[in-house]
Amino acid sequence: MSWIDIGALDDVPLRGARLVKTRLGCVAVFRTGEAEVFAASNACPHKGGPLSEGIVHGRKVTCPLHNWVFDLETGEAQGADDGRIDTYKVRVEDGRVLLDGALLMKGAA
Ligand code: FES
Repeated sequence: MSWIDIGALDDVPLRGARLVKTRLGCVAVFRTGEAEVFAASNACPHKGGPLSEGIVHGRKVTCPLHNWVFDLETGEAQGADDGRIDTYKVRVEDGRVLLDGALLMKGAA
């Protein structure tokens, strides 16, 4: 597997997110703890709310539009809401955030 450096961990706000543009569209990189990151699609399956602008709590994010809550590990909506977001492999090494390169290469000509 090849990993692609998408920036410094410090550029992702604690309990916040940063948007990364890929060939598959925008991927939101969430930071839940000092060195814990998750990557998922930015668009909420409800009505497309920008999840990178949502509230990160624990390992979950709450959509800023209508407050659906998604588990960042599984992508599943929590509670009574039905839906899920795509999640992607991401890791942290030496203070850099690395995203699964296969994701970024998908859709390449
Ligand atoms: S768009 Fe996300 S909860 Fe409605």
